[in-house]
Amino acid sequence: VLTDEQKKIVQSTAPVLKEHGKQITSVFYQHVQEAHPELRNIFNQSNQTTGSQPLALAFTLYCAAEHINHLDVLMPQVEQIAYKHRALLVKPEHYPIVGKFLLEAIAEVLGAKATPEILEAWKAAYSVISSIFIGLEKKLYAKLGDDERDKGFISFKIVSKETVAAGPTVALTLERADGGKLFDYIPGQYIAVRLEKGGLFHNRLYGLTEPSNGKTYSIVVKQEADNAPNATISNEIINNLNVGGTILATNPSGNFTLVNDAKHNLFIAGGVGIGPLSAMVQYLSANGKSSSGSLIHCVRTAGHAIFADKLRAALPAGQYVLLSADQPISKAILAGKLQPDTQVYVSGSEAFISIVDAVLVECAHPKSQIHTEAIGPSLSILKR
Ligand code: HEM
Repeated sequence: VLTDEQKKIVQSTAPVLKEHGKQITSVFYQHVQEAHPELRNIFNQSNQTTGSQPLALAFTLYCAAEHINHLDVLMPQVEQIAYKHRALLVKPEHYPIVGKFLLEAIAEVLGAKATPEILEAWKAAYSVISSIFIGLEKKLYAKLGDDERDKGFISFKIVSKETVAAGPTVALTLERADGGKLFDYIPGQYIAVRLEKGGLFHNRLYGLTEPSNGKTYSIVVKQEADNAPNATISNEIINNLNVGGTILATNPSGNFTLVNDAKHNLFIAGGVGIGPLSAMVQYLSANGKSSSGSLIHCVRTAGHAIFADKLRAALPAGQYVLLSADQPISKAILAGKLQPDTQVYVSGSEAFISIVDAVLVECAHPKSQIHTEAIGPSLSILKR
C-alpha cells in the first residue's frame, strides 16, 4: 500500500528522477540483463541499444507517479502499453524483476540523495502501478482462451512474399502452421513477430494490413539501414526468409481500432505506418462505409507508396492523398479533411506522430478524437 506520505514523496521526487532518466535506465538495462539474460529475448535489443525502450518504461513510471492520485487519467495510455506487453508476452513474474533493478538503478544514480524513505516510496508506487498493468494484462491473456498454444509464440508458414514498394518493401502472407485455429482480429491490431539471430530472439510488432479473413495474416516489411533501431527482424525477413519458410508470431493484440460508426474518419500514415490503416480503410470499404474515410499517406517518394492502387480504389474519388518528402503535412492540408466530429488515426514513427500531432493541435482538433500508434517504443503517448 502507498501511504499519503509516500504519495507526496513520489510526486516531489518524480522530476529529479525524470532529469536523470537516461542514466537510470541505462544502469537498469545493463544490470537487469546481466542478472536475467533470458530477458534479452523479450526486451527489443535494438531499442535497448538506443535506450528508447527502458526510457519509455521509466518515463511512464514518472508520469504515473505525478498522477498517482488520479491514475484514471492515464488509463488510455496504460491500456495501449498493456496490449503491447500482451503481444510480446510480458508476464506477471517479470514485474518484480524489473521493479527490483529499476529501484537499484535509482539508488545507484541518485546516490546519497536517494534516502531510504524515498526508495521505499518508489517501491510502493511501482507496486501499485505494476498491479494495474498485471491486472489489465491478465484480462487480455484470458481472452486467448484455454489452449496453451494460443498464449505463446506460434509457428506460421510464409505462403507469399511480394515486393509492394520501393525500399524494398515486401508484403508477407502467413498461415498458421501448428494445427491451431487462426484468431480473428479487429482492423488496426498487430502481431509480434519473433526471429532468432545471433543466439537471441528478436521481436517486433507489425500491424495486420488486411481485414480479418479467417485464413491468413498479412504484414508489410521494409528494408532498414542495418544500424536503424528495429532493423534486425525486417532485414532478416527481406534478405533471408522466403515462401515456405517459417516465422514465429503471437496472436493479434492492440486497441488502435476504429471508433464505432464514426461519420468521418481521417487516416494519416507515415511510410510503413500504413499497415494497420490499410486494414481499417479496406474494412470500411468492404462494409459499405468507404464514404466516411479519407487517407493521407506521407512517403519518401511515390515509389514508396505501399498498396496505393488498392487503397485509392477503396476510397471515394479524391480521398486518397499521397504526399512525398517535399510536401510536408500542414494545417492547410489537414483543415480541408477535418470536420468537427472526425476521428483521426495516425500511424508511423514516433517522430512522424509528433509532427502530425503538432499540426492537429494547430487545427484545434479535439484530443479525444485523435488515435495514434507508433512503430517502436513510444514516448509520445506520454507527452500527449
Ligand atoms: C514497452 C512501460 C513493465 C517489457 C513499453 C512501453 C512502455 C512501457 C511505455 C512502450 C510502449 C509503446 O511502444 O508504445 C512499462 C511500465 C512497466 C513495464 C510502466 C512497469 C510498471 C515491463 C516488464 C517487461 C516489459 C515487466 C518485461 C520484462 C516491454 C517490452 C516492450 C515494452 C518488451 C516493447 C518494446 C519494444 O518493442 O521495443 N513498456 N513497462 N515492460 N515493455 Fe514495458
